[in-house]
Amino acid sequence: MEAKTPKESLTVLTDLVLPGETNFLDNLFGGELLARMDRACSIAARRHSRQIVVTASVNHVAFSKPIPVGSVVTVEAKVSRAFKSSMETYVDVWTEDRLSGSRTKVNEGIYTFVAVDEVGKPVTIPQITPETDLEKKRFEGALRRKQLSLVLAGKLNAHDATALKALFN
Ligand SMILES: CC(C)(COP(=O)(O)OP(=O)(O)OC[C@H]1O[C@@H](n2cnc3c(N)ncnc32)[C@H](O)[C@@H]1OP(=O)(O)O)[C@@H](O)C(=O)NCCC(=O)NCCS
Repeated sequence: MEAKTPKESLTVLTDLVLPGETNFLDNLFGGELLARMDRACSIAARRHSRQIVVTASVNHVAFSKPIPVGSVVTVEAKVSRAFKSSMETYVDVWTEDRLSGSRTKVNEGIYTFVAVDEVGKPVTIPQITPETDLEKKRFEGALRRKQLSLVLAGKLNAHDATALKALFN
């Protein structure tokens, strides 16, 4: 199976924040943003694997800046690393200034998807060759994030999380 690049999975979703999607401070409701991020990541994972994909884990989400009602929000997802059947997908969230069009990064997240067959059994996927500096950095950190996620899920013994342990040596 030939390796692919992260940009082949790039998925960009742009949408408004409408009043029904906000919290009591008139900012985008966190759950609504999570859904948009999950949707973009899921399409990116599908583009990378060309298989049915399911969300296995939400590894990290940072709601660093509120997003006011009326904002134009762009969610950009790309697969950062592929393992055997699972892939790490990075998502960056941007808003754009109405007058200047300049973009501000407001949130980011990391999701893990697993490619499965028609009965939900994991299947092998193509590997990833990162190209840009940012893609290389995200690729390199992906193994320890996978190990952390597996340890937290009770699926990997912490003693076997070699890449994660290397952080502390
Ligand atoms: C995700 C799922 C297919 C994994 O099945 P499983 O029986 O644990 O399969 P495996 O143990 O063979 O794991 C498959 C891959 O997922 C990875 N994985 C499983 N759980 C993980 C987790 N919590 N974090 C990171 N990776 C995980 C494994 O490391 C493995 O990766 P690899 O093949 O790349 O090495 C299964 O748990 C599932 O169907 N979950 C429900 C998914 C779903 O419905 N999502 C939507 C929620 S509404």
